[in-house]
Amino acid sequence: MLARQAPAPQALSALSHRVLPSATAASRLPTSTPSRPSKQQSRGLATVQDEKPKQRHYGGLKDQDRIFQNLYGHHGADLKSAMKYGDWYKTKEIVLKGHDWIISEIKASGLRGRGGAGFPSGMKWSFMNFKDWDKDTKPRYLVVNADEGEPGTCKDREIMRKDPHKLIEGCLVAGRAMNCTAAYIYIRGEFYHEATVLQRAIQEAYQAGLIGKNACGTGYDFDVFIHRGAGAYVCGEETSLIESLEGKPGKPRLKPPFPAAVGLFGCPSTVANVETVAVAPTICRRGASWFNSFGRERNSGTKLFCISGHVNNPCTVEEEMSIPLKELIDKHCGGVRGGWDNLKAVIPGGSSTPVLPKHMCEDQLMDFDALKDSQSGLGTAAVIVMDKSTDIVRAFSRLSTFYRHESCGQCTPCREGSKWTEQIMKRFEKGQGRVREIDMLQELTKQVEGHTICALGEAFAWPLQGLIRHFRPELEARMKSYAEQHGGEALAGGWQHDAPKRGMLIAPGQ
Ligand SMILES: Cc1cc2nc3c(=O)[nH]c(=O)nc-3n(C[C@H](O)[C@H](O)[C@H](O)COP(=O)(O)O)c2cc1C
Ligand code: SF4
Repeated sequence: MLARQAPAPQALSALSHRVLPSATAASRLPTSTPSRPSKQQSRGLATVQDEKPKQRHYGGLKDQDRIFQNLYGHHGADLKSAMKYGDWYKTKEIVLKGHDWIISEIKASGLRGRGGAGFPSGMKWSFMNFKDWDKDTKPRYLVVNADEGEPGTCKDREIMRKDPHKLIEGCLVAGRAMNCTAAYIYIRGEFYHEATVLQRAIQEAYQAGLIGKNACGTGYDFDVFIHRGAGAYVCGEETSLIESLEGKPGKPRLKPPFPAAVGLFGCPSTVANVETVAVAPTICRRGASWFNSFGRERNSGTKLFCISGHVNNPCTVEEEMSIPLKELIDKHCGGVRGGWDNLKAVIPGGSSTPVLPKHMCEDQLMDFDALKDSQSGLGTAAVIVMDKSTDIVRAFSRLSTFYRHESCGQCTPCREGSKWTEQIMKRFEKGQGRVREIDMLQELTKQVEGHTICALGEAFAWPLQGLIRHFRPELEARMKSYAEQHGGEALAGGWQHDAPKRGMLIAPGQ
């Protein structure tokens, strides 16, 4: 899912104004012209160090650096196999180091939430240990978000299916960091198989004394429960998930209060994504600096990418953060169907992140900041590849239907806006519309963003803004072709141009 802060184009232009040398600044420089241009001048007034720092190439993660050793199910999901591959190693020592140590390791590792918003996890977890937290007698909960509803995303289910002990160990480590009494894993209802595998692994961990009373022999008591959802996308939103866990309809809550203050059953709680929780023990074991050595600054670590759509080999793969998009597709997915030149567009982070046309995909890096700079987002790193055979207007129309269906209906801009956008997109699919309606659609999406309780509003608004930004000519061409075929442009609402003449009752002013 998306972070709420949209990349503002003004911010980008303001940045470029700041770095470009202004005319006044230039006029303050010495005017005498040496016979040969100095090194400084040939650099165009830049004041950086002499040699340009060598750009590091990201990607090419080695097998020994993969956290998820069993992503493809080469060994069993049972405890014995998990231990053979490094899970539950020195967990006791990690837990005994205490909450301050774990949180400082997570902070130093630079881990950002893998659920979509990319909020720094160490900081988020530290909110649970507020002043005098230990004087509060209420239970405290870690809620693991295993709802995985974002279209295109299929990474958390791979963890639960093949590496369930990584998640359970992660629950204990993250739970200890936040001094939680228990973890609730809220798993998407359709994931029946994953829930079964996970439940079996929880049982094994209890029997081995790894969780439960005196977990791992540390004197710390910690329970892990599974709760199966009923398949609503909005229940992936953290407050909606909490409501659902409490047995109520999954409708997001207004914040504040934030869950760390008033969460599950009114107790301090933190909702964290499966992948975020599952990587915590390895970070603590191998060290924050190891994790931090991957990816660009502020975008560190390894990441599960799930690539679907028009590629030769759709897959979920763990790679270094900041890997170039093209390399990700070519190396792990056997390339775009029909070759790179057959690429039309890519949705880089799940269906709620704005689409990138081919020319932007050429040198796109896959991390939070690089994608934000491209007015999109890393989201859940669910890369949806579309080749030239894709009817992009139809694709986005279908997504609009999805978001309309998933809106919980609490906020007017989302409830009505998602329905209107669906209706408009259905007409645009057929070319039934007028060019000015594209601007109206844009305006509508602008009225939604920032005006809703949860980010589902942005989730349906931003992709449409991306479509208009990059594929407006395609929308216009469709309208033109419809007008040519039908003897005139469709009127608003999709009525044919001659509907009034034919005595049909349409809106006044048409
Ligand atoms: C409509 C909506 C659906 C969401 N669905 C999911 C989801 O399926 N899984 C998930 O981890 N986060 C989802 N999120 C994000 C969560 O609200 C929350 O930010 C995340 O679980 C926090 O985990 P993290 O800090 O590990 O990223 C969703 C957000 C919204 C607004
Ligand atoms: S934005 Fe949509 S899904 Fe979220 S609370 Fe409002 S109506 Fe419900």
